[in-house]
Amino acid sequence: MMVQNSRAVSNSANLNVMSNAVFKAARGLVRDFGEVENLQVSRKGPGDFVSAADLKVEKILYEELLKARPTYGFLMEEAGELDGEDSSHRWIIDPLDGTTNFLHGLPHFAISVALEKDGEIIAGVVYDPVKDEMFMAEKGQGAFMNDRRLRVSSRKDMSQALLGTGLAWALHTNKERETVSKAIALMMPQTAGIRRMGSAALDMAYVAAGRLDAYWEAPIMSWDIAAGIILVKEAGGFVCDLSGKDDVFGSNSILATNGKLHRQLSKDLIPVYKG
Ligand code: IPD
Ligand code: CA
Ligand code: CA
Repeated sequence: MMVQNSRAVSNSANLNVMSNAVFKAARGLVRDFGEVENLQVSRKGPGDFVSAADLKVEKILYEELLKARPTYGFLMEEAGELDGEDSSHRWIIDPLDGTTNFLHGLPHFAISVALEKDGEIIAGVVYDPVKDEMFMAEKGQGAFMNDRRLRVSSRKDMSQALLGTGLAWALHTNKERETVSKAIALMMPQTAGIRRMGSAALDMAYVAAGRLDAYWEAPIMSWDIAAGIILVKEAGGFVCDLSGKDDVFGSNSILATNGKLHRQLSKDLIPVYKG
């Protein structure tokens, strides 16, 4: 069912380092996903197995990236922040984005790795190992999926737009849940549909690929969307936070669009999230 990509996808040194590390980590993840599917079917339940899969991927990424760039710092979802000798560069890593899907045997999840320089994301890769789709982008070099150049959609009519978002869940506050509900109630009647697919990294990659016309979510963490930000920008899209500013990481919120729908979506969504 699953294929494993091992081809070189880029000539850029940073993207090569990132994609090699991600392909290596993905091999174990695909094996573990097969186990989860079995555990799911046998009703034993995946339990701690999933966090073990997250940790294994993160460890491989950490080791490979450290080997290639020994002075860079790290921000990892599981292990947290590690300072590097070079304070201007750091890797931002989500080893498994879409854990709930993974845990349920639902084949939609990704590994996300971004490179930040002086506070700006300059390269990113998002890899979906089940579909063998490697999304990658570097500042000024465009965005790609495997060998294909990506471009955001050109849809400008909201009634035809397909939007992605995330829903708050048990750990979120009542206020967060209410805000999400209000945003969905407002957008639902205006669009062709809203999707909650369960991987923010892939939602962003899909905006870059023109599969979704826009995506928004709050609260959201930097590792969920760091690689996606450069993908969307390099594919010609717009990214801002849900107060209309540029502080996506500081505000833990994001709106990413194809550009054409940006004004309309900002006008609708920003007041809802400002509360
Ligand atoms: C989650 C996914 C999900 C988003 C959540 C994230 P995880 O990441 O990206 O789509 O709605 O906000 O936490 O926990 O699967 O890495
Ligand atoms: Ca995540
Ligand atoms: Ca994760």
